[in-house]
Amino acid sequence: MITHTVNISPEHRGLNFLLNIKKDQLNYFTSLMHREGAFAWYQLAHKNVLMLNDATGIQHVLQDNAGNYHKSSFYKVLKPFLGNSILLSEEAIWKKQRQESAPAFAHRNFAAMVPQMTDAIHAMLERWQKNIVSQQPLDLNFETMWFTLDVLLRTLFHEQRDGITNDMQNSILTLLREAEERVWRIVSLPQRLTFMLPKYRRSLNFLNKTIDELVATRRANHAYPEDLLSRLITSYTEAPAQQRMLRDQMMTFLLAGHETTANGLVWALYYLSKHPDIWQKVATEADAVLGNRTPTMDDIKQLQYTRQVFDEVLRIHPVVWTLSREAQADDIIPLENDDQIELKRGTVVMLCTYAVHRRTCYWPNPEVFDPERFNTANSHQRPKYSWFPFGGGPRMCVGFRFAQIESIIALAMLAQRYDFSLLPGQNLQPVPTITLRPPGAMYFTVTKRHAAAVSCHPDTIISTISNATCPFHVETRVA
Ligand code: HEM
Repeated sequence: MITHTVNISPEHRGLNFLLNIKKDQLNYFTSLMHREGAFAWYQLAHKNVLMLNDATGIQHVLQDNAGNYHKSSFYKVLKPFLGNSILLSEEAIWKKQRQESAPAFAHRNFAAMVPQMTDAIHAMLERWQKNIVSQQPLDLNFETMWFTLDVLLRTLFHEQRDGITNDMQNSILTLLREAEERVWRIVSLPQRLTFMLPKYRRSLNFLNKTIDELVATRRANHAYPEDLLSRLITSYTEAPAQQRMLRDQMMTFLLAGHETTANGLVWALYYLSKHPDIWQKVATEADAVLGNRTPTMDDIKQLQYTRQVFDEVLRIHPVVWTLSREAQADDIIPLENDDQIELKRGTVVMLCTYAVHRRTCYWPNPEVFDPERFNTANSHQRPKYSWFPFGGGPRMCVGFRFAQIESIIALAMLAQRYDFSLLPGQNLQPVPTITLRPPGAMYFTVTKRHAAAVSCHPDTIISTISNATCPFHVETRVA
């Protein structure tokens, strides 16, 4: 067994190194991983950083010794608008916040949330009608962002108004873009000063005021439907500090659940439009499981291939493309090959989902989009932390099931009705900021599907799908 210690070569530190990363972060870190394997060292903002690419090591940091690893200072860019809420807090405060909010995402609540999600899809499809009839392309980056915010407002706040969705969307994006540009900027105005500029102050004030009004209305009506807002209202008193905490929490859920899921969906449509055979399988499954029906919670587990597709989208395109932690005490990180890494207190650990999801020892032909990687047989062959788009351990995304259900339903309902083709000539190079997002609009033409709903039993169809040979993968799958 070898014990590795910090070892930073001159080309992995200093301004030149930062400039090299900035040119193309995704390729830089992926190449670094391919070159160095289980781990690599570098220095950024005077901090020693361990890039950890080994599933056993990742499990140690995120799960087995999670208490020793706090969110790193790179998350601080979110503080001006998220305060010390669940995404950023630690220890006792985080524990309390997690206990307050997690039950809102418990399995039993999804039966009520699914109809709210499907209503939001119907509203989106109605908005599309004019474009579909006239064959005008739709910007599905914008549409998926609108949709996921609409879903959050309906499910977590029982709120639904087009005006509020539009204004909130603009304000959220203004704040997020400021924070994400800051992450890799070499010199920037202190955030305290930036937030005095009218553009940012207006956006933050608007969001705060809107959330405060939603809380006040609910309190005034004494009506507490089962949702996150009700849970939080009853967890906090009306004292100003508590109210601020409540607002920061709601803001965090809006931000954390909005662009992430929207990006997942729009990249799913991107990959599916490039692989019409896979889209056809999603559509065949939707026809078999749903026919012309609107999905309910009971349908989710039948939409197995659609789930595999979304899992594969989050592998090849993890929308939270990197996580980072800071060691609170010295530690020894175990590795798969029985070696270990000695880590000093204060070291930052980078868990680059985008790179690890391309490690060939876990993912052969990593650039090939193949949902069969996630069938049951193939999934069992990999270590748990070779795939972690939602993080893991106690800090795992609290909305992960919500995001999966929302996305499976959306893809299935779209596949019941439409085919999507990307307009050629667009710059779609992903931008690695806080999320891995498209650089701007993503135009698709949307056409009605010609295929009629399939009338045979869902099981027959699913086993046909599972046994079909994927053109990108030589194996034949077992149902
Ligand atoms: C495809 C969609 C999503 C992805 C890929 C995603 C990914 C993640 C990841 C990777 C983390 C962990 C961050 C870290 O450990 O540093 C996280 C945390 C979190 N996510 Fe998500 N997320 C998604 C959707 C959602 C949704 C829909 C919600 C809420 C409605 C949500 C709420 C949160 C919250 C509150 C946290 C912080 C949890 C904690 O620290 O206890 N996310 N998410």
